[in-house]
Amino acid sequence: MSAPRETPPALEARRNEADRLFSPSAGRNRHAIAEVLARILPAQAWVLEIGSGTGEHAATLLGLRQDVVWQPSDPDSASRLSEDAWGSDFDGRMKPSLALDLVRPGWMDGLGPFDAIVSMNVIHIAPWDVARAIAEASEHMLNRPEGLVYFYGPFQEGEATAPSNLDFDRNLKARNPDWGVRALSDVQALMAGSGLVSLERVDMPANNLSLIFRTGVSADASS
Ligand SMILES: C[S@@+](CC[C@H](N)C(=O)[O-])C[C@H]1O[C@@H](n2cnc3c(N)ncnc32)[C@H](O)[C@@H]1O
Repeated sequence: MSAPRETPPALEARRNEADRLFSPSAGRNRHAIAEVLARILPAQAWVLEIGSGTGEHAATLLGLRQDVVWQPSDPDSASRLSEDAWGSDFDGRMKPSLALDLVRPGWMDGLGPFDAIVSMNVIHIAPWDVARAIAEASEHMLNRPEGLVYFYGPFQEGEATAPSNLDFDRNLKARNPDWGVRALSDVQALMAGSGLVSLERVDMPANNLSLIFRTGVSADASS
């Protein structure tokens, strides 16, 4: 094992074994997330992940579901190397990682279709435009009528917000004013604006949520 590489601002310090990175937070939550995904993903699903980080979430899910094909992505090159290293365990079911930065125009050109777009621990530690881009992508890239969008992370729910999530929100905004723990109602409104139906909310450990949205028959007919 060698020393951790220099860490970009949106990433925690990660242990590495050659190119394969290990995230402390993914180590804590990857099994709970994979259990939800393994239950909800349709048979033979093609999945696009936004902000895949180390690739541990993809690897954990692919270990549970042998029928799934996974497209990881991240703007961070060390993360992409790690995703590709984890992906070598899965006989081509984890595709080579893509350098997708959702604030860059044209990021979705030539992509899709997918059965699901998933993003864990990303929309609070990136500009709100990233959440908007995922909503827009759901209109263009998801198979219908049962395409899924899955988010995992902390959310604000007015007075019911966990104190730890309020602290985390202050911490994020101090680091970057464009970051912050998103209001659940804002995320729901954004997704509804793209014709997605809120399918399920799963309370997860440490005051996090899994949020699952589904497409309608067509982008126009689902409002
Ligand atoms: C806290 S990490 C989460 C990584 C991984 N999803 C996990 O749960 O372990 C946030 C990730 O979002 C990615 N990210 C930040 N801004 C992004 C953007 N504009 N487009 C796509 N991904 C972005 C970062 O590179 C990083 O991998």
